[in-house]
Amino acid sequence: MTDLFDPVVLGSIECRNRIAMAPCTRCMSPDFLPTANVVEYYRRRAADGVGLLISEGTVITPRGSGYLDVPGIFDPSQAKAWKRVTNAVHDEGGRMICQIWHVGNVAHRRTTGGLTPESPSGIAPEGHVSRIVNDDGQPVPFEAGEAMTEARIHEVIDLFRSAAGRAMEAGFDGVEIHGAHGYLIDQFTNLAFNHRTDEWGGIHRTRFAREVTHSVIGEIGSDRTVFRFSPLMSVANQPWLEAESTFELLLTDLWEAGLRILHASNLDYDQPILRSGPEIADPDLPLHRACRQHWSGQLIGVGSLDPSRAARAIEDHEVDVVAFGRSLIANPDFCHRLRSGLPLRDYDPQMLATLD
Ligand SMILES: Cc1cc2nc3c(=O)[nH]c(=O)nc-3n(C[C@H](O)[C@H](O)[C@H](O)COP(=O)(O)O)c2cc1C
Repeated sequence: MTDLFDPVVLGSIECRNRIAMAPCTRCMSPDFLPTANVVEYYRRRAADGVGLLISEGTVITPRGSGYLDVPGIFDPSQAKAWKRVTNAVHDEGGRMICQIWHVGNVAHRRTTGGLTPESPSGIAPEGHVSRIVNDDGQPVPFEAGEAMTEARIHEVIDLFRSAAGRAMEAGFDGVEIHGAHGYLIDQFTNLAFNHRTDEWGGIHRTRFAREVTHSVIGEIGSDRTVFRFSPLMSVANQPWLEAESTFELLLTDLWEAGLRILHASNLDYDQPILRSGPEIADPDLPLHRACRQHWSGQLIGVGSLDPSRAARAIEDHEVDVVAFGRSLIANPDFCHRLRSGLPLRDYDPQMLATLD
């Protein structure tokens, strides 16, 4: 019987157990550089015994930043700063992958360093930029920005590729492509934000995800590449339109691009997500089960998992690795607590004020 603490080889990444830290943005890296506190924050989780750390979203270009003080991986100075983190994690026996990120136009020129936000069709997402107010103290709405030209699409695909290469220079064990939560890649995938009539929209809406994945895999290999996606969960409060056909298109395209490790993101792991349809007939199918049926590669699961539900998910082979976000922010000694049968501290958003 497989349990949470059994080792797993994810692609070619040898993890000492099946517990992953989900990517969690902390906004503590001014000038795109992770600080000494960030090093210690990840070191603590690795020293506690977490098998795989997935870094917070790390931008591939300033134009892809929608929050203040997020780290980058587009410049050699950032690779050098991340190297201190990856060395610390490796010293403690952990493995770490870098989540590479472009927010699309879930942004404003105040978060992109003055650059115009970009997206597939220039449709402004609902909502406001985090932690930024205008002169009257009012929250600042996301900016529609520019629809990307064909040439710019190819440039951004190449930025993902070079960020992946830089992540390897920084000592990461691989990368996770952030294709989830309403950011750039997901904006292409979701018909609500992709109104293009060219070869990047309509039935081609998952092409951007496929080409990003293909170019990242060309740079670092399929055994080190993870793709995260989320049909339902989005910062712009906009689940996928035509979810079932999109699901099939995306999984088929990612497989053809060479992807073998999928990270299915939902806020609630057990929530029924894909409604009945010609291919996926069970209306109560949660996302991870839909993935197991339609994906022959490895799977990471996440979403309000408590340790006992997570243990069952591993035992029943629903997923290969389980990720925890808020519990690992709240409990730097998460694995110790699990092993000793101690209760977990509850997560409180106030905890985001410091990097414990
Ligand atoms: C503070 C915070 C920051 C997050 N930042 C990211 C991020 O950078 N990238 C990402 O893909 N998901 C991000 N997420 C989502 C988490 O990775 C995770 O999927 C979500 O919290 C659900 O898992 P949980 O119930 O174990 O917390 C974030 C979540 C929180 C609470």
